[in-house]
Amino acid sequence: MSRDDPFQALREALQISPENAPLRKHLADLHVRHGNLEEAEVEYKLALKYATQDSSISHALADVYFRQKKYSHALVIVESLLGGSNTLPSVHVLHARLLLVTGEVQRACSQYQLAVQLDPQVTDLQLERELGMETSVEPDTELWSESDSTPGLGLPWESEPNEPQFELQRPLVDFSDVGGMEELKEQIRLRIIHPLNNASIYQAYGKPIGGGILMYGPPGCGKTLVARATAGEIDADFLSVGINDILDMWMGNSERNLHDVFQSARRSKPCVLFFDEVDALGASRSDMRQSAGRHLINQFLAEMDGVNSSNDGVLIMGATNAPWHLDAAFRRPGRFDRILFVPPPDMPARVEILNVLCQGKPTSKLDLQQLAKKTAAYSGADLKNVIDLAIEGKLKTALRTGTPEPIQTRDLLDAIKLTKPTTKEWFSTARNYALYSNVGGIYDDILEYLKQQ
Ligand SMILES: Nc1ncnc2c1ncn2[C@@H]1O[C@H](COP(=O)(O)OP(=O)(O)OP(=O)(O)O)[C@@H](O)[C@H]1O
Ligand SMILES: [Mg+2]
Repeated sequence: MSRDDPFQALREALQISPENAPLRKHLADLHVRHGNLEEAEVEYKLALKYATQDSSISHALADVYFRQKKYSHALVIVESLLGGSNTLPSVHVLHARLLLVTGEVQRACSQYQLAVQLDPQVTDLQLERELGMETSVEPDTELWSESDSTPGLGLPWESEPNEPQFELQRPLVDFSDVGGMEELKEQIRLRIIHPLNNASIYQAYGKPIGGGILMYGPPGCGKTLVARATAGEIDADFLSVGINDILDMWMGNSERNLHDVFQSARRSKPCVLFFDEVDALGASRSDMRQSAGRHLINQFLAEMDGVNSSNDGVLIMGATNAPWHLDAAFRRPGRFDRILFVPPPDMPARVEILNVLCQGKPTSKLDLQQLAKKTAAYSGADLKNVIDLAIEGKLKTALRTGTPEPIQTRDLLDAIKLTKPTTKEWFSTARNYALYSNVGGIYDDILEYLKQQ
């Protein structure tokens, strides 16, 4: 096995988290890049099993069908995507291609024009020629130099695979947008915000600044939101890096890119450098002992340690749903040495979250206490879903009657009945780890939480 075999690396990662749809999509995208369309089809379908609502996967599957000339399959998906809201321009382009194949040139043209109106970047001169349209721009030879008989559709996975883009953001959210989670916020203040604002005092007492915070817990409970809000709270830049990006770098044979991520963060300090799904990275080391993953992990650890460059002013945060997959090396002092459990919100936190989520929405006076009482074990994301459902219901009625009505407690209670908390499944796995591999009491918080239920 070598680091030249990115397929192997992804398959290994998938063995560890087979239900990780983004990772599976990544493997499928890689198959597309290598022209393995049948394999790509299989992987996209599997990914869709775990992420049924993910339109980017459906879109990619439709594209693969198209490339295999399975036009009717492709059309079914494209039509369903067109039925949704905010359809991507590239879906319209694919629709145009399908219409062209079936001889509906007129409709194909209007679909294509619509796509270009939405985003001029999807302009495809070859398609314009096939559609018999006047080309608006002189063909740019560079555009065509690399293209084959199936030109790109401007889809994300067709971009240069080894050049991940990292976008520095200035988050508009701060701690006031995060409901509840007081303990976590306090820890972050102590650990990140105060040291940053009072660097000289900390130094005077010889207290080292640095080290990362790793948040873990069930999905949808606000880990990513808190990381973003931390940056907002201290007016810092926010740089978020997912496992897919990391694997991309690895596949690109360029550890330099990982170094570049850290360097970008160092250049724009203060900066919160956030690693999402960090477990998939950590797992690489112990479970892929023989593999190239180790190399990447070691480099990651060295960057965290600031071996060659100082991480002063770079606040490293990580999030994971599966901390038990994380190599212990990540928990050494100066690395993710503060591991914080992010539980589902308790009753007062749910009141807070509902309050935050309802802000700016047309509501009558809501009985938040009652709503919070009826949503035990709901994650923040579950609560958001309840509100979205209630709004959808209201919209439907408003469209029928022509009069918009504010959302009432009753509407939200009805929406609650249609939903289930999504955190329970996570705890059934977590319980086993907390009971049987609770080295050094690392998962005591999970046991404590379960005791209170
Ligand atoms: N405490 C909270 N206050 C306000 N909104 C919240 C809170 N927790 C979650 N939400 C809502 O739920 C959404 C999902 O939360 P977030 O993405 O931060 O969860 P997560 O813990 O990172 O989940 P995952 O483990 O799946 O990545 C947020 O975008 C927000 O709308
Ligand atoms: Mg998250």
